[in-house]
Formats: sequence, C-alpha cells, structure tokens
Amino acid sequence: MPVYSISHVENVRVCVVMVGLPARGKSLIAQKIVRYLSWLSIKSKCFNVGGYRRELAADVGDFTAEFFDPTNKRGLQYRQSAVDSAINDMMKWFVNENGVVGILDATNSTKQRRAEILKLCRDNYIEPMFLESWCDDQDLILQNILDVKTTSPDYVNSESEYATKDFLKRIKFYEQNYETMDVKHDSDLTFIKLVNVNQQIILNRIESYLESRIVYYVMNLHIKPRSIYLSRHGESEYNLTGQIGGDANLSERGWRYAKKLPELVLKSLGEENKHTNLTVWTSTLNRTQQTASFLPYKKKLQWKALDELDAGECDGMTYEEIEQKFPEDFKARDDNKYEYRYRGGESYRDIVIRLEPIIMELERQENILIITHQAVLRCLYAYFMNVPQEESPWMSIPLHTLIKLEPRAYSTIVSRIKADIPAVSTYKEKGTSQLGEIVNGTTSSKSRDLINDSKCV
Ligand SMILES: *[C@@H]1O[C@H](CO)[C@@H](O)[C@H](O)[C@H]1NC(C)=O
Ligand SMILES: *[C@@H]1O[C@H](CO)[C@@H](O)[C@H](O)[C@H]1NC(C)=O
Ligand SMILES: *[C@@H]1O[C@H](CO)[C@@H](O)[C@H](O)[C@H]1NC(C)=O
Ligand SMILES: *[C@@H]1O[C@H](CO)[C@@H](O)[C@H](O)[C@H]1NC(C)=O
Ligand SMILES: *[C@@H]1O[C@H](CO)[C@@H](O)[C@H](O)[C@H]1NC(C)=O
Repeated sequence: MPVYSISHVENVRVCVVMVGLPARGKSLIAQKIVRYLSWLSIKSKCFNVGGYRRELAADVGDFTAEFFDPTNKRGLQYRQSAVDSAINDMMKWFVNENGVVGILDATNSTKQRRAEILKLCRDNYIEPMFLESWCDDQDLILQNILDVKTTSPDYVNSESEYATKDFLKRIKFYEQNYETMDVKHDSDLTFIKLVNVNQQIILNRIESYLESRIVYYVMNLHIKPRSIYLSRHGESEYNLTGQIGGDANLSERGWRYAKKLPELVLKSLGEENKHTNLTVWTSTLNRTQQTASFLPYKKKLQWKALDELDAGECDGMTYEEIEQKFPEDFKARDDNKYEYRYRGGESYRDIVIRLEPIIMELERQENILIITHQAVLRCLYAYFMNVPQEESPWMSIPLHTLIKLEPRAYSTIVSRIKADIPAVSTYKEKGTSQLGEIVNGTTSSKSRDLINDSKCV
C-alpha cells in the first residue's frame, strides 16, 4: 500500500456528488469523507448547497416546506442559484487551491442535473463520482430526521413536533422529481449507491485509486448511536523519571487509576446502560494492558498499531537528555512536530499511516474503549474532532482522564471524566525540555509537579 500524500494523487481530482432525498444521512457521510481524507493529508472540502441557500435567501426568513414546492417559482430560483454558487466555488477551489476531493452536498439530483455536472467535471479534467444514499427503511429515516431537526439551522427556533411534520412535507416535495441511480441507465457513470446505509452497496465503474479509497471507507460506515471511550495508560514508572518510550510497568498511582477505571466507565454509561458490554482495545505494551486489567469486559484485543510512537535512538531518554545529546533534533522536532521522525523511529505522520486500519475497524465497531498512548491518542482524537495537523501533536491529553466521544450527524460530543488520582504532567511545551502544562498563560506545573485534578465533567 502506498503512503497517502498529495504527491501520490497529484493529477487526480475527484468531485463527489451526493445524491438522495433529505434525511438520508448525506451531509453526515459527506463530512465524514472530508474528515477522513483531510486526516490522511488529502486536501478535501465539502460544499453544502443548503448553506448557500440559507445565505442567498436570507430575506426569506423561515424555510418552511412550501419553499421547496417545485411550483414555487421564487423558491426554485433561489435553489438554482444556490447550486450554481456552490459549484462555482468548488471549481475555483479546485483551480486556485489545488483541491483534490471536492464534495457537492446537494439534494435535487435529477438525471438532467447529473448530466450537467458530469459535463462540467469532464471539461475540467475532474473525475465525477456520484454517491447516492437511498433509503426506504422508515426507522432509519425517522432517526435521521430526529438528528437533522435537532441540529439543522433551518429549524433552530421551531418546536420539535412541527419540525418533524414540516420536514416530512419537504421530503414529499423532493420526491416528486427524484430520480434514483441504476446500473442500467447510468452504466457509464462512476457511482456508489448505498441502500439503507450498508444493507446493500452497488458499485459502478470505480476507477482511480482515490475513488476506491473512498468506496472502502463508506462501506465501513454505520450510523448506529454509540460511544467511543479513549484513555491513556495509567502513570508509568518511566513517567515518574520523565523517560520516554520503553516498556515500563505502571507506577503505584497508575495502578490506582487502573483499579478505578471500571467505575469511571460505569458512571459515564449511566444507570440505564450499565450492562452495556464494551470492546476493549490496548496496545501490545505492558502499561496499557495493566491499565485494562480490572475491566470486566470479555472482549479484549491487543493491537501493535496502537503502540506508542517509536522514539528510536531516543527511547528511554528524558527530554533533557535528548536536548543535550541531539540539540538539532530537539529543535527540529519543535519546529515541525508532525513531520519530525526520531532517528531510527517514527513521526506523527507515520503513526497516522499505521492507524488507518484501526480507523476503518473503529468505524465498524459499536461501543468501544481504547487504552493507548499519548501520541497515538492525539492522532485518534484528531480524526474524530477534525484537528489540523499543526495542532494535533501539541494537544493536551492528560493522564488519568477518560475521554468519551459520541459521534452525531453534525458534530461529535466530547466529555472528559477525570479520575481523582494525581499524576505527573507528561506535557512538553514548545521550546523547552521541561514538562508541565500551561494554565492561564503561565506554566503552573513546571517540571514534574503533580497535577491533582479531581473535577468530574
Ligand atoms: C430540481 O429538479 C427539477 C426537475 O428536474 C428542475 O426543474 C429544477 O431546476 C431542479 N432544481 C434545482 C435547484 O436543482
Ligand atoms: C510516559 O511513560 C511512557 C513509558 O512508560 C512513555 O512511553 C511516554 O512517552 C511517557 N510520556 C511522556 C510524554 O513522558
Ligand atoms: C514489571 O513488573 C514485573 C512483575 O512485577 C517484573 O517482573 C518486571 O521486571 C517489571 N518490568 C520492568 C520493565 O520494570
Ligand atoms: C454482557 O456480557 C455479559 C456476560 O458475557 C452478559 O451476561 C450480558 O447479558 C451482556 N450484556 C448485554 C447488554 O449484552
Ligand atoms: C512486560 O513486557 C515484557 C516484554 O515486552 C515481558 O517480558 C514482561 O513479562 C512484561 N511484564 C509484565 C509484568 O507483564
């Protein structure tokens, strides 16, 4: 498998055109693809026609279902110019910003409109790929409506019951013109058709490598509600001495965190979900397995891909020792932590590449708890929270804290549950070899002071 970077897809540009009625999860899928590709350093962006419509037709005020009536001339005009603006901006982005994958997130895709987009793409050497989400499972649709109406800007001030009714009416209007894709009539187009999310997936003329990556990704998606728990291992003996790498055991306080972890998880699951079984993933290193050792769940898996960033020649050293022995390396790492690769070891970019299969498998999973290491956790978190590469290696992910992620249609809800167990800070600011976190602009806990945080958020 090749390394994913812009250079690899240099001349390939793909326009993913979403197709499908409202409440079919199109925006969710579109945003996930953008998040996934950006995480792999492939420049991608979503152009949401709904957003353009809200901006252009700001004077309309409320977007009730009548706006979407095909006989509403004014509505049609606005919707047409929204599509045109979105396409126009997308084309500019491809050309001026070297975009690689643009996603056109629109609803009203008739055969005629598809033909127009097709022509425009071909004229500009962009590969068009249609992605239809087709759905007749009423439960799925209602679940989507629930998600949309609670998060969509179109219904911010509406009562929930009214929003559902109005939204169903809007869908009815769209159904009047909707033409689905099929292998017989669209045999010359590149398309993916998802039937009831992933009950059935129809693929047609998937050609480039990039397209097949996208296909593989969407095939692994599901939309069942679930929680993803992330935790670093408990404090290790190396953390006490400030050494990096190695395969140390937990410290006494680290063991206390391990013993407390089952209780933290239970508390977060809540009374009604207390019998939920989580799958537990750890790395192959002692400290993560020790941290998982008191959890009552049967399914525990070890992944080599979850092992800590390999510090190569610096393994077992403290940051001070690295600064003294390899001053240039120390500076180079601070200057570009994402790309810096330890002598004989790894960079953050290397971790992202080895985590890709983990992300695919994670998308397939339901409730899960992952116990891993600081650098790996930063990369996983960056994927879920869309954190840019320049920032992710500097994110603070303290010890003895359980992070809960709940992916929703338009965002991911995060909560941090702190165990009332002190640990050393393992956070290193830029430009220093001292450890400690900045609080209110000053380093409050320089060096290896204790962070004693007992808040429960
Ligand atoms: C929606 O589809 C109808 C029927 O093909 C077409 O007349 C109309 O222009 C389309 N509107 C937009 C905004 O795409
Ligand atoms: C904490 O200790 C482990 C070794 O037990 C090490 O891999 C990790 O890098 C340490 N964290 C920091 C940032 O010092
Ligand atoms: C970890 O603990 C075990 C059992 O107490 C001991 O045998 C082993 O040597 C320890 N490992 C390290 C790296 O200290
Ligand atoms: C979780 O696993 C236990 C033991 O394997 C089982 O008794 C329990 O029913 C499971 N809980 C759920 C919600 O499936
Ligand atoms: C820690 O890991 C080493 C090798 O990776 C192993 O030999 C040792 O038994 C482990 N210690 C414990 C306590 O699990």
